[in-house]
Amino acid sequence: MSFDQLKDRIRETPISTIISHYMSLSKKGANLEGLCPFHPDSKPSLKVNDAKGMFKCFVCGAGGDAITFVKDFTKVEFVDALKDIAGKIGIPFEEYQKEKKKNPRLEMAFRVLNASVKLYKKVSTQSPAPYLDFIEKRKLNAESVEKFQIGYAPGNNSLLKYLESIPENDKDFAQKTALDLGLVKYNENRDSYYDFYRDRVMFPIHDHSGQIRGYSSRAVLPDQVPKYLNSGESFAFDKGGILFGFYFGKNFIRQTDQVIIVEGNMDVIMMHQFGFHQTVGTMGTALSEHSIRLLSNMTKNIYLGMDSDAAGKKAMHKINADFMALGILPKFLSYEPSKDPDEFLLSEGRLALIERMEKAPILLDVMIHEVIPEKIPENLELKLKTLQRVFEFLAPLKDHLSASERVVSVAKTLGLKSDPATILQDYRDFLSRQKDKVFTQPEKPKIQKEEEELEKADQESQIENLKPLQDSGPISKSEKVFIKEILCHPEFLTQPNRDEFLAYIEHPEVKRLFQWLVKIYFEIDEAEYVPVVQDELMANSYGKEIRDIATEALFNYGNKYNEKVIQRMLKDYKVMLKMEQLKIKRKVLVERQRSSLTQLEVDGLLVEISKIDKEIHSLKNTVP
Ligand code: UTP
Ligand code: MN
Repeated sequence: MSFDQLKDRIRETPISTIISHYMSLSKKGANLEGLCPFHPDSKPSLKVNDAKGMFKCFVCGAGGDAITFVKDFTKVEFVDALKDIAGKIGIPFEEYQKEKKKNPRLEMAFRVLNASVKLYKKVSTQSPAPYLDFIEKRKLNAESVEKFQIGYAPGNNSLLKYLESIPENDKDFAQKTALDLGLVKYNENRDSYYDFYRDRVMFPIHDHSGQIRGYSSRAVLPDQVPKYLNSGESFAFDKGGILFGFYFGKNFIRQTDQVIIVEGNMDVIMMHQFGFHQTVGTMGTALSEHSIRLLSNMTKNIYLGMDSDAAGKKAMHKINADFMALGILPKFLSYEPSKDPDEFLLSEGRLALIERMEKAPILLDVMIHEVIPEKIPENLELKLKTLQRVFEFLAPLKDHLSASERVVSVAKTLGLKSDPATILQDYRDFLSRQKDKVFTQPEKPKIQKEEEELEKADQESQIENLKPLQDSGPISKSEKVFIKEILCHPEFLTQPNRDEFLAYIEHPEVKRLFQWLVKIYFEIDEAEYVPVVQDELMANSYGKEIRDIATEALFNYGNKYNEKVIQRMLKDYKVMLKMEQLKIKRKVLVERQRSSLTQLEVDGLLVEISKIDKEIHSLKNTVP
């Protein structure tokens, strides 16, 4: 869904990058911090954690994700906060608006694509020899095949046959869509249709939300050309917008704070198979401006690892320059003497690649090193020519310190006699002559006024949903402590006796959140835990009190308790919750007793109170 996609895209950006657009932050250990804008703050109380995508003020309690921050900071509605962030980090907001309006053509495209994946998968399980040979020869393990949904397109127009079998009312539309997607083609001479992919191993291309948008396919028969046959750009497939493997690697990229960029899809798959989940593929050679921005917002530690051939090098230099224009200096990952990561991993193994990564030099320095001759020439013209080449490499950095430092150092290596100031001036002159060629920042997306209005109306229901329900009374102290602890340590939920707690929770929101946690905890990925809980809090009308408790808990989430501690704490919580429940019950009874009109009623209540007192007494004795 488009709205979720936009939220996902915002989550792909570190929260500190977003918050820094609104206030200044400075680094402090694993977190960033700044003066809290939500209360008069004299010391930096606002903590920002990129790994979790959260901010939290431990003084005033404000906290949440990036969208919450912008919403509260700029005091705008949810949708306007999204729009504001999109503008600031260069996400084309209008794209989502277009997709959001129900798009039957796109829906049909997804249906056809999803069906084709199933079909190719099914064929592959019937053990076609070329497929099995490929999987075996390339050492693809079952996990990779499953995860990347690698299938096989047979040579018998199987997709066409499938489309033929669709019920009448959808058939024409589905066939037309398959044609538009390039999955089937039309042969004019024979006036008939045929499957575009025949006798090929099929690699689905997942967009960043996991939806399949197209294919890369590999030849497996002798003399079959071309080796790779890929989906072309279509209404459902924006090639430049997708990085191969990103969907599977995005969390890992954030966690490891690094990304490895490789060329081929087989390379991405093998990198993941060997544990380098922070790898994405360029699907060909170019990396779109959008992808550059996306990755640079997630991490500054970029490893470029294209193939070692001429085409790979050329592509790598272009990508390098694009990152440099954003002030990032990517590192160069070499596989020599292997040709690509796939070959390297199979022959040298995982540890060897880790070693290469640790030793990876900055690509820019490799390039500079390569143009400086072993033996420095005597000839001044040659020296200046070399310097000129280095200027070209440095240009994307403009007059960033990391460029000027290199200018001075190269001039020294070349034995140039001019003083650094003169050389730097020369570099600046070079830059101003280059100006037009240098990578330019993308324009901010233009948002059509009309569409904006439409959007607003469309979102009203969404905003409606965000308003908390009627306040349902205060949350007790024990309930607060309990739910905070459970959110921070959801490993409690693995205990078989967790359901007993429901009986001791009175507050409906605490109860609801607890039940929801029990339900989802086993289904979600650890890396998704924080955003999923935040989503639930935002989407399902929890009140401010519980949201504040939750953001604090999520902020502290991450350290697991061991089994023993869990057991002990659960016991303590049970006693604590039960005790508070009894005390509250007692208070209610005492009130009622005071306002009772008949002796009979008073007596009855006193009996109940003394029962509760007994329970409280025995509970107290169980406390260690
Ligand atoms: P390679 O020929 O080096 O392929 O082309 P590869 O990735 O190592 O593939 P395997 O290991 O032989 O299976 C590098 C990249 O160029 C593109 C593909 O993106 C490929 O990954 N390419 C290559 C094509 O698009 N079409 C082709 O016919 C060949
Ligand atoms: Mn290869």
